Amino acid sequence: MDKKRIIIINGPNLNLLGKREPEIYGSDSFEEFFKKLQNKNPGLQLEYYQSNIEGKLVSKIQQADDEFDGILLNAAAYTHTSVAIHDAIGAIAVPVVEIHISNIYKREEFRHKSLISSKCVGMISGLGLKGYQLGLEYFKNN
Ligand code: DQA
Repeated sequence: MDKKRIIIINGPNLNLLGKREPEIYGSDSFEEFFKKLQNKNPGLQLEYYQSNIEGKLVSKIQQADDEFDGILLNAAAYTHTSVAIHDAIGAIAVPVVEIHISNIYKREEFRHKSLISSKCVGMISGLGLKGYQLGLEYFKNN
């Protein structure tokens, strides 16, 4: 059987993981963490994409529909503002799991609202980088 193809799409400022507010987001860079994820999940074909630009995230979500079996999406700050990302998820057939490293409900009120959750199969929030591994477990079994 062919390996399931999963893409992790990270939004703005997540390129700074490891340096950015380590008390909230931890001290690993995503590149280091992504290598660990690949080693831990040899049965999956994993890809990683990050952009700080909303339109590029929308284009990547659209493209992923033909190329992947699942998306783990941490839309970062665009989670709380982006109708365009909400619509892009609604426009594709490939399932999307919403990921947040921090618990968005324990933080400022403007983070309590996600515009994208209603289009995602589910959401993992507050479990640190481990949330990405848990999202992969979902795709292994679904
Ligand atoms: C985040 C939570 C968002 O509110 C924030 O804007 C981020 C990261 C998280 O992974 O916890 O940039 O999506």
